[in-house]
Amino acid sequence: MEEITTGRIIIVGAGLGALYAALCLAPRPVLLISPDPLGSGASSAWAQGGVAAAMAQADSPEAHALDTIKAGAGTVEPRVAATVTDEARAHILALTDFGTAFDRSADGGYVLSREAAHSFARVVRVQGDQAGAEIMRALIEKLRGTPSIQVVEGVLARGLDSDGTKVTGVEVELSRPEGSAPVMLRGAGVLLAGGGSGGLYALTTNPARIRGEVIGMAAGAGALIADAEFVQFHPTAIDCGEDPAPLATEALRGAGAHLINREGARFMEEVHPLAELAPRDIVARAIFAQTQAGLRPMLDTRKALGAAVLTDYPAVAAACARNGIDPVSQPIPVAAAAHYHMGGVATDAHGRSSLAGLWVCGEAASTGLHGANRLASNGLLEALVFARRAAQDMLEECGAGGSDTVALPDLPTGETPDAALVTELRQTMTRDVGVLRDATGLRRALATIAQIEAAQPDCAQLQNMTATATLIAAAALARRESRGAHCRTDYPETRPEAARSFMTLAEARVRRSNPEDAPR
Ligand code: SIN
Repeated sequence: MEEITTGRIIIVGAGLGALYAALCLAPRPVLLISPDPLGSGASSAWAQGGVAAAMAQADSPEAHALDTIKAGAGTVEPRVAATVTDEARAHILALTDFGTAFDRSADGGYVLSREAAHSFARVVRVQGDQAGAEIMRALIEKLRGTPSIQVVEGVLARGLDSDGTKVTGVEVELSRPEGSAPVMLRGAGVLLAGGGSGGLYALTTNPARIRGEVIGMAAGAGALIADAEFVQFHPTAIDCGEDPAPLATEALRGAGAHLINREGARFMEEVHPLAELAPRDIVARAIFAQTQAGLRPMLDTRKALGAAVLTDYPAVAAACARNGIDPVSQPIPVAAAAHYHMGGVATDAHGRSSLAGLWVCGEAASTGLHGANRLASNGLLEALVFARRAAQDMLEECGAGGSDTVALPDLPTGETPDAALVTELRQTMTRDVGVLRDATGLRRALATIAQIEAAQPDCAQLQNMTATATLIAAAALARRESRGAHCRTDYPETRPEAARSFMTLAEARVRRSNPEDAPR
């Protein structure tokens, strides 16, 4: 395989964590590899609510940390919650300096949305549901004007070169159908910031590109994976047949929208004292139960927002318009959809993985912030905090580097995953590793994932996807309890002792070939 060596730090991904890390590393030279043109294909640009940060006078990082710990159902690392929430304000100010047009009040303060399980209105927002798009716009503009950052678009990372202890290179191929053979890129260090796993599920709010490949790549190189079983389902994906499903932001419920079913009943009131603003896992299970019972759950914005939904929440309004739904006069049909992976590559306080030379941030990482159920709008916050920390750590570890421009030869397109196999994988994950799980379904899922993996052994993309799917299902089978977003119908109780899970891909594969329901 052809090899290219550069003094640059290699960043894999093009979401918030990747761009922010590249800017924090500047003027240290960086090579950023994006499978798509910047601004498309990354989950961050689709984030609607915003960034959680204690910006209000009465609020505090301590209160934010407490809400984070409470929502996380026993497995949030308190030190991580304390430091991340403490740093939140500084990142909002940094994004503002980078040109992000957050909503501001007449007195210059930040307009804050309320989202589920937050004890304060705490989500720094942009035009109701435009936060992700606007933050990404501002960062891309800044990045394009930063000469130390070389961006290559249309190139996909397919694997890491590792001896099981240290990562020394990234294998890349074209993400378009043309080319000849993969190339190994060797840099001063590697930062993975390529998103989570939602696209492994048939019903998801994530862009199609985001399907566990980055986590799978790290796992394949031997990195330790944490909390893989904890996948968050968003209660209000718009149930309109689009794949991916458009999101109806939780901020709508924060603004007073209700959940009703086809009989007009507000079912959340009898489920939880916080009703529509109960923790996300509880609302998602209630929505799922309504769907399963044929009761057609819907988000009713009519009374709370009236016609303002059209102007104040443009992404939701556009999704409704595309699908013939008039939210001013009709409730919006919703379903619980895979939205965010709390699990990922285990990282320390500096974003370091268990492998030397490999840092990870954003949704691909598992830092201990989210526990078993992420607090709304803590995802972008975590990406910001750990992108900067990883950048600072890499600056110390990776030296000054060179500013050589990397010239990639004609790259090959890799073998594309067989569409029928991908469909089967996604349906399996939604059916057997979804909102509700049990041992029978999880064992069936592991067997199916193994068959899918064996059907296309030379397809790196598919192998990365099945690696992550295996980790999710194996960790879910091993966790014989229900906690946060992980709900086992055969083990409905939450065990008194709470612990995060840690697993390598090799361990997950052993469990897959011998799926006894081992206790955790
Ligand atoms: C939303 O706007 O409802 C999503 C926010 C999040 O997932 O953090």
